Amino acid sequence: MAKDKKKQKKSSMSMADMADRHILYQESVQDVEGEIDFVEQTFEEIRNRPMKILREDFCGTMNTSCEWIRRGDDHEAVCVDNDEEVLAWGRSNNIGALKEQQQARLDVHCDDVFEVSTKPVDAVLAMNFSYFIFEERTKLREYFKRVREALTDDGILFLDIFGGYEAYQELEEPRECDGFDYIWDQADFDPMSGHMVCHIHFEFEDGSRMENAFTYEWRLWSLPEIRELLDEAGYSKVTVYLEGDDEDTGEGNGIFEPATRADADAGFLGYLVAEK
Ligand SMILES: C[S@@+](CC[C@H](N)C(=O)[O-])C[C@H]1O[C@@H](n2cnc3c(N)ncnc32)[C@H](O)[C@@H]1O
Repeated sequence: MAKDKKKQKKSSMSMADMADRHILYQESVQDVEGEIDFVEQTFEEIRNRPMKILREDFCGTMNTSCEWIRRGDDHEAVCVDNDEEVLAWGRSNNIGALKEQQQARLDVHCDDVFEVSTKPVDAVLAMNFSYFIFEERTKLREYFKRVREALTDDGILFLDIFGGYEAYQELEEPRECDGFDYIWDQADFDPMSGHMVCHIHFEFEDGSRMENAFTYEWRLWSLPEIRELLDEAGYSKVTVYLEGDDEDTGEGNGIFEPATRADADAGFLGYLVAEK
């Protein structure tokens, strides 16, 4: 009887009720293999030596750091995020899936990226536009300065960036993933301050929807503004790598090349590579 009730309860739950937002995020937003390919290759090309210690700011579930750890027996990662809930999920699911000797090479800090103090690292990654949370010039410049101090003498800061005229519009952009739809929602944008509110929603085959699975409040910084702030923060060289187009689909092809100018397209995705 009790078992039947349990079964009934389970079947009345929607797919959205049963889904885990962190798994959906990892499957729809992140490409940790592609990201680490880019960082590893670019670091070695620029510095003529392999990268060893990476610091992942705004690390969330530490998925990127775990990918780095898996790739080499001498790789180390320092992870920083100020949300204990997301770190706890990452510890159980991502770090938990690593071997013991791999786990020992991760150093996790539940802290503010602005305050944290860590050992010198070859590279700092601040991805998924997370540094956009610093909405004032002085604050963002100070963050870039602090990261510069955290780097080894030949260290490199890696940032990602998006832009294009659609970035300034309030719109919803759905994308089909394996078993669910990912919806990027640019819900509110104030051209006066550049402040924007974005959400991620997920939709399922049974019609259910996980509303506001993630919410971000940011300033939509432009590429030239970020380059200027990195210069002012003391980085010796900043290179922009832009994603190329897939000729068949018109979408990004996942290949990032150094660029000195861009087309006035609806959208672009790129990396800023700032050398100490
Ligand atoms: C957009 S998620 C990025 C997750 C991951 N880095 C990625 O690329 O997918 C932003 C993360 O930054 C964290 N965060 C926000 N403000 C922070 C701060 N001041 N210091 C440290 N972490 C912060 C949030 O807890 C969240 O996990």
